[in-house]
Amino acid sequence: MKIDVYFSPAQVDEMQLRDKNVVVIDVLRASTTIVTALNNGAREIIPVGSIESAVKVSGNLFGDVVLRGGERNGKIITGFNLGNSPSEYTEDAVKGKSIIFCTTNGSSAMVKAKYAKRMAVGGFINVSLVADFIRQAGEDFSIVCAGEKQLFCMEDAVCAGMLVKMLVEDSPVVVDVNDAAGAAQVLYKTVGKNLLKMAKSSDHGKYLVDIGFESDLKTCVSVDSIPVLPLLIGNVIKLKKEEAKHSITLDVQEG
Ligand code: MLT
Repeated sequence: MKIDVYFSPAQVDEMQLRDKNVVVIDVLRASTTIVTALNNGAREIIPVGSIESAVKVSGNLFGDVVLRGGERNGKIITGFNLGNSPSEYTEDAVKGKSIIFCTTNGSSAMVKAKYAKRMAVGGFINVSLVADFIRQAGEDFSIVCAGEKQLFCMEDAVCAGMLVKMLVEDSPVVVDVNDAAGAAQVLYKTVGKNLLKMAKSSDHGKYLVDIGFESDLKTCVSVDSIPVLPLLIGNVIKLKKEEAKHSITLDVQEG
């Protein structure tokens, strides 16, 4: 089994990810928010790459079961129902809803994996489950860090390192890794002992503290606190167990 890490979505395109097994990591905060929303009963998350796509997709769906969530510069987008803080995605707010989700880095990276064979959403909050999923698949995987504006970001790289370490140390088959996956493991071993400190000293972590979202950092680095696995199924992200339960058919095209 080969595990390749990409520190930024700029390092891969849709065609490179076509028919591949992919995990997208956006610790701060898109992965954490998606996991939280689905765990609190959201029907599905519809990731889009731009605000224009969010508006276009909303036009095809019924108002009262659909919410728009996401951010620009960490803050709620004008006209949207929810921002990108996991704390907003409570059961009261999201149960039974389809959420069109647009964030600066995370949702765009997920859209890039739309032709993947499998695409799972990962973060610290579900990392062990993601590792189990990869082990069970027993195939090569690409781990794509959402990064920050196409650049490397510390928290996603450290989370990728934790995931790679779990796989290398405990898998039924030999795990081969690319250089970035090796580097991610080294990073995790170096700064992974205190994840909250790491998040607070990261560029995006500092920014989130500045704009009033300090409490999100703790949520986002709480290892295995929400052990559910969001998977891209067609054009929507759902919990694996929800696959059969919800049968809504959506015709969602990226513009
Ligand atoms: C993103 O996708 O860029 C992030 O999740 C930004 C944020 O923290 O809201």
